[in-house]
Formats: sequence, structure tokens, C-alpha cells
Amino acid sequence: MMWRVAVLWAFAAACLSIGAAQEPGNLERALAFYRTRPRVERPQAGWQRLPDGLRDLRAATCGECHSAIYDEWLVSTHGQAWTDRQLQSEMAKSGNRWLCNNCHTPLLNQMEVWAVELSDGDVEKPLYVENPVFDSAFRDEGITCAACHVRDGAVEGPTGIQTKAHATRKTERFTEEVICLTCHQAVRNYPGKDFICIFETGAEWRESPYGQAGQPCQSCHMQPVTRPQAIGEAPRSGRRHYWPGAGIFKVEGLGPPVDQLGAGLGVEVEATSDELVVRLSNSAAGHLLPTGDPERFILVEVDFSDSQKRAVGETYRERIGQTWEWWPVPRKLADDRLAPLEVRELRIPRPETAAAWTLVATSHRISAEALEFHDLADYPSSRVTHERMGDFPTDRR
Ligand code: HEC
Ligand code: HEC
Ligand code: HEC
Ligand code: HEC
Ligand code: HEC
Repeated sequence: MMWRVAVLWAFAAACLSIGAAQEPGNLERALAFYRTRPRVERPQAGWQRLPDGLRDLRAATCGECHSAIYDEWLVSTHGQAWTDRQLQSEMAKSGNRWLCNNCHTPLLNQMEVWAVELSDGDVEKPLYVENPVFDSAFRDEGITCAACHVRDGAVEGPTGIQTKAHATRKTERFTEEVICLTCHQAVRNYPGKDFICIFETGAEWRESPYGQAGQPCQSCHMQPVTRPQAIGEAPRSGRRHYWPGAGIFKVEGLGPPVDQLGAGLGVEVEATSDELVVRLSNSAAGHLLPTGDPERFILVEVDFSDSQKRAVGETYRERIGQTWEWWPVPRKLADDRLAPLEVRELRIPRPETAAAWTLVATSHRISAEALEFHDLADYPSSRVTHERMGDFPTDRR
């Protein structure tokens, strides 16, 4: 998470007064407040009326008919965007929770409380009122179906196919990147604060050959599939709802199947008589590698051994990612991420007695130190993407 709190502040309860339940006009006050805020500080899916035919807006309800899509969404990172323990831990350390809610529970309908004012204009001192129709199960769904699909009293989709189940409407945004960019392209600075909002995947994509060719996020992150789109209907073409990314699950075993998206990193190794030539590339990602959360990084480690399989020389390490200082003011210190299709060549000298080499590449969401800071040392944070080994030519020395 790009919003990072570097000091453990006591929760400023005094700043978070909760208004009287059912206070008339809560929704109007909230809507009026959010209208005064910039785009990235508004609930990304707004307040939504129930489309005709539906009982409620919960994903679980959609899933009664759209069971295959529901099962995919359930294990996706979007489906875990609120329950994410790291998000919960970060939110507990600052008064900025109302900002996080806007993307991680993007409908006003989902939120327990709504901001209606900021004391002293301070984003960490919101005044909250209660959502009179709060439903905790709906909030826990995070980026729920309705976040993308429900607008102005209708279920929107790529075809607008008619059904007795609910009102539908066709909109173009489903086949374009805009549907992703409200959340994945969002930048805002908070002078004097130790957090910022910095997601630039959209801009990175736009500059890439994929963006230039108009190949949207969905083309890689939502695989095409032909199947019944609702129980009992005739099969038709659509897309999977897994949104695989770096593949580092939040909960052990609960994530998209690995065949949904390969690693973004490409690795080629050539062993010559006096060096190991390693070519790392961003072979598959449609944006910088890694993208998204500024704490993500890739680590490539190379070890050597002699003919008796004993370790020789030092481990060679290449870290690819951004380096930030979060306190007292967030500041980017370095950034050596791989641009789409960029190849980076490493030439590693062969240690004197080395006979064989081993290369392991891992993808990380966050550093071990940062996890510890959040008391999440047991939270999954990395995944091995490549394991290679080989011998050096024997014609040397
Ligand atoms: C403008 C939309 C937006 C807002 C506001 C927002 N987030 Fe996020 N958040 C995202 C997106 C998009 C990602 C996915 C990026 C990724 O996984 O690399 C994300 C990912 C995360 C993650 C998971 C990171 C990982 O490496 O898996 C955490 C934790 C998180 N956000 C915490 C927060 C907190 C805390 C706040 C409030 C201070 C917040 N977010 C506000 C859009 C937002
Ligand atoms: C009672 C069953 C039922 C429920 C509940 C239901 N749907 Fe549907 N939905 C259908 C049927 C049937 C179709 C048309 C079948 C098809 O698309 O082939 C459909 C079509 C759709 C489409 C396709 C529209 C398009 O433009 O292609 C979307 C999107 C959709 N539903 C989303 C949802 C969402 C989101 C929810 C929950 C808020 C939901 N549905 C709840 C039965 C249901
Ligand atoms: C309402 C905001 C929102 C929208 C719209 C949205 N995302 Fe996300 N996305 C998020 C957040 C928040 C996360 C991170 C959740 C977490 O890790 O807790 C995320 C995570 C991801 C990930 C990372 C998966 C991983 O585990 O590494 C991918 C890939 C992704 N989104 C792709 C997309 C695509 C493609 C679209 C458009 C079809 C899209 N998103 C639309 C907010 C959004
Ligand atoms: C992050 C945004 C997002 C979320 C969340 C989301 N969808 Fe979709 N959905 C899409 C996009 C994009 C398409 C268009 C795919 C395509 O081009 O066929 C789509 C298409 C559909 C379709 C039409 C069939 C198809 O694949 O084209 C149905 C039905 C549907 N979604 C139901 C759901 C249900 C049910 C949920 C929740 C369990 C859900 N969606 C959650 C973005 C989303
Ligand atoms: C050409 C295919 C392609 C396109 C187009 C693409 N992505 Fe990705 N994306 C990938 C791959 C591959 C990864 C896995 C990278 C890795 O190994 O960490 C990824 C990873 C991600 C991640 C997780 C963070 C990370 O670096 O792993 C997010 C978030 C994401 N993509 C969002 C988007 C969004 C939003 C768009 C559209 C603006 C988009 N992607 C377009 C291929 C693509």
C-alpha cells in the first residue's frame, strides 16, 4: 500500500466523532462533502440504487445465478480488498480510513460511516456520520460486483443482454481500460503527512506498446472464456474474473490458478568459461515491472558451487523496484523498474572454483521489515517465480 504510516500513533478517537444513527440527511451531507473532494478522494462507485429485479447488491446474491464468475471473484485480490490484513493494520494507525474506503469498498452503500467534514481541513480528522443501511457482509466483499457493474439503477455490462432477472444496460467502458483506471491511476500528495497516494499503472500502460496498440488491461488480466454466463443460460463469450497479478496470495491457497497469468519477468542465462550472463526482461507485463504498490520488488539471487557441491563465492543479488523514504515526508529515492519489453543484462564474474550456478527469482509485495512493523510477520509476502541451475563449461583452467 502506497499509503504508509511510519509512526505508531494512538488512534485519534477524539477526531472521529460518530454522528447520531439515522440522522436525517446523512446521505445528502455525505454526497455534498464528497463532491467537494478531488476524484481520488471520492467513493469510486458512488451511491447506487438497487436495479429492478434484485433483492440486494451483494456479490453473494449475484453469485446465486452467476456462480462461475462469483467463484473466480471470491478468490481474486479484488474480493479480498477489504479483508486484507495489511490494509486493516495500516488503517488502524491513522485517521485516513475514509480515504482507503473509497477504493477498497468503493460504494457508499458498503461503508459503515461516511465522512461529512474535515476538522481544520485535515484529512486525518474527518467527522463521520453513520450509514443507516450499513451491511457488514456487503462491506467485507471489498471490490464487489456492483463496484464495476451497477450504475443509475441498472446492471451495466459489455452487451446489455436482456433478462428477466434484472435491468441491464450496455456501456463501452467494459472493453476499455477506463473501468480499471479510476483506482489503478490515482496520484495525490498530502503535504505534511507521511502517506501519499501513488498508483501510476494507467500512465505506464499508456506509454507502453500495449497502450499504444489499444490493448486494454482486460486482455491480460481477464482471460476470454465461452460458457453460460448465468446458470441455465446458453454459453456465450465473456471473460474470467480472477484478475491475477503478481500471484502472491493474501491467504494461503486462496487465489487464481497459476495458469491464468505467467510472471512478468523473463530470465535467460548463459554460462561462459569466465562469467554468467543473465538477461532479465519485462517480457509479459503491460506496464513497468513491478507496478502498483510502490513497495513491490523483484529479487534475483545467484549462488555458485564447486564440483563437490560446496558453496563458493558470495551470493549475487539484484533488486528491481522502487526505494522510498516514508518519514518524515514520503520521497522516492530510486526506481530501477523494467519498462515493458526492456532487457537488462547482468554479467557476473565466475568465482575461481565455481563449477555450477543456481538462480532464484522471487516477487515481493513488501519487505520483511515493513511486515514486521505492521505485526504481520506471518502474512504471505513473496513468491518464487523462477528457479534455474546449470554447470559452467568444463574447459577452463
Ligand atoms: C485511489 C484508490 C485507492 C485508495 C484511495 C487506496 N488504495 Fe490501497 N490499493 C489500491 C490499488 C489499485 C491497489 C493495488 C496495487 C497493487 O496491488 O500493487 C491497492 C493495494 C493496497 C494494498 C495491498 C498491497 C499489496 O502489496 O498487496 C494495501 C495494504 C492497501 N492498498 C492499503 C491502503 C490503505 C491503508 C489506504 C488508505 C490510506 C488505501 N489503500 C487507499 C487503490 C487504492
Ligand atoms: C436471478 C438470477 C440473477 C441474479 C440474482 C443476477 N443476475 Fe445478472 N444476469 C442473469 C441472467 C439470466 C443474465 C443474462 C444471461 C446472459 O448474460 O447470458 C444476466 C446478465 C448479467 C450481465 C450481463 C450484461 C451484459 O451487458 O452482458 C451482468 C454484467 C450481470 N448479469 C451482472 C449481475 C450482477 C452484478 C448481479 C448482482 C448485483 C446480478 N447480475 C444478479 C441472472 C441474474
Ligand atoms: C474500485 C477500485 C478498483 C477497480 C475499479 C479495479 N481495481 Fe484492481 N485492485 C484494486 C485494489 C484496491 C486492489 C488491491 C487489493 C488488495 O491487495 O488488498 C487491486 C488489485 C488488482 C490487481 C493485483 C492482483 C494481485 O494480487 O497481484 C490486479 C492485476 C488488478 N487489480 C487489475 C484490475 C483490472 C484489470 C481492473 C479493470 C478491469 C481493475 N483492477 C479494476 C482496486 C480496483
Ligand atoms: C473490477 C471490475 C469488475 C468486477 C468487480 C466484476 N466484474 Fe463482471 N465484468 C467486468 C468486465 C470488464 C467485464 C467485460 C468482460 C468482457 O469483455 O467480456 C465483465 C463482464 C461480466 C459479465 C458478462 C459476461 C462477460 O464475461 O462478458 C457478467 C455476467 C459479470 N461480469 C458478472 C459479474 C459478477 C457476478 C461479479 C461479482 C461476482 C462481477 N462481474 C465483478 C468487470 C468486473
Ligand atoms: C500485456 C499484458 C498486460 C497488460 C496489457 C496489463 N498487464 Fe498488469 N500485469 C501483467 C503481468 C504479466 C503481471 C504480473 C507481473 C509480475 O510478475 O509481478 C501484471 C501485474 C499487474 C499488477 C500487480 C502488480 C505487479 O507488478 O505484479 C497490477 C495491479 C496490474 N498488473 C494492473 C494492470 C492494469 C490496471 C492494467 C491496464 C492499465 C494492466 N495491468 C495491463 C500483464 C499485463
